[in-house]
Amino acid sequence: MSIATTRRAEEAFRDARREEAASLMRSDAARAAIALHGTPVLLLQTERVRAQYRRLRAALPFVDFHFAVKALAHEGVLETLAEEGCGFDVATGEELALLDRVPRGRIIHTHPIKKPAEIAEAIDAGVRTFVIDNEIELAKFIGAPSDVRLLVRLAYRSPHAKSDLSSKFGVGPFEAMHLIVAARERGIRVAGFSFHVGSQLDDPARFAAAITETVALIDRVRAELGVHLDVLDIGGGFPIAYDSAVRSIEELAAVIGPVLAARAGDLEILAEPGRAMVAESMMLVTSVVGVAERDDGRWYYLDDGLYGAYSNVLTEDVHPLIFAERELEAADTSAHRWATLAGPTCDSSDVIAREALMPELEVGDLLVSPAMGAYTVVTASRFNGRPVTTIAVLDAVEVARVGAVEREPALAALA
Ligand SMILES: Cc1ncc(COP(=O)(O)O)c(C=O)c1O
Repeated sequence: MSIATTRRAEEAFRDARREEAASLMRSDAARAAIALHGTPVLLLQTERVRAQYRRLRAALPFVDFHFAVKALAHEGVLETLAEEGCGFDVATGEELALLDRVPRGRIIHTHPIKKPAEIAEAIDAGVRTFVIDNEIELAKFIGAPSDVRLLVRLAYRSPHAKSDLSSKFGVGPFEAMHLIVAARERGIRVAGFSFHVGSQLDDPARFAAAITETVALIDRVRAELGVHLDVLDIGGGFPIAYDSAVRSIEELAAVIGPVLAARAGDLEILAEPGRAMVAESMMLVTSVVGVAERDDGRWYYLDDGLYGAYSNVLTEDVHPLIFAERELEAADTSAHRWATLAGPTCDSSDVIAREALMPELEVGDLLVSPAMGAYTVVTASRFNGRPVTTIAVLDAVEVARVGAVEREPALAALA
């Protein structure tokens, strides 16, 4: 692709995101939420979560999706997905506790390292699927109920992912086979393999290769060890577009779908997407609290930053788009100038974006960042005593009740 074509595609992508943000900011629900909560505030559209789940299901109908709760542990999201029949992937007892009305069979625990007490509590709560990647973890399951099944986590390094999730966990095929033998000797059931190709990985071929290699290993285990594995968990990692377009769910499915479909008859296929399920369902609204002219130009200080909802910039190196409200309705950027956008804390590293092309802004001006649903508030801190950014639920509630959903205690009956 030529540079000009790439630039045109980036501009078209940015325009589409700007139009999306403009349309949300025009809505009564968004205006009411901002009036009620002030800024910073995250505007959550649970109907977009529902639509995204349906889209994933339509693209990969033979995959049993389990939302990775860690991406956005919000009850509006969990309730919506539970209503749709989605499963859940938890990493801790705290995440499990958020799902107390969800049938246990729809929950899997995928953290490869757990305290024995946490395993016992999850088993008591009815969870039956767990992940291990070493013998010490395997030993924690000696004596577990016979319907408990383990998945062995495989490692597939992905240096191009935003977060390579095989640098900390996972084993290669030799060790995986050894674990299966060790489990058989201890009377523990290994049901299959799981892996995570890396978060925000815009590389369908890498997904397909990991699936193909894992399926080949399942066949090898059957042939060489006589152990019949029937679960293939392809993890998460599906990318979403932050500051430029990525391969769509449908494009990814076109590559991995045929590989999976070939084995859908004899394998239970699970997936644990987090980011792809929720990222585009939430938009951040911040405001300018300070303006300064420094040696390197104009600085705008916002009321949210890297220690708050923009924690994704810090922990994941993603770059959400940031639009000033006053540029939402007009694409003309001729009067824009380069500026630094900083967060509100006293830490010098709390800088959200450098060389951001912005219109002239004043204290009180609003800014918006779309696609702020995944790994934002969940990884935020209370540094400098600042509260974690409020989430206001926009849809499925009357405007007057915007925000109230957050305070509703439990999930509706979901069985
Ligand atoms: C075990 C596991 N499953 C699923 C996910 C979700 O990944 P993503 O948000 O990239 O889809 C993660 C992310 O850290 C993970 O560690």
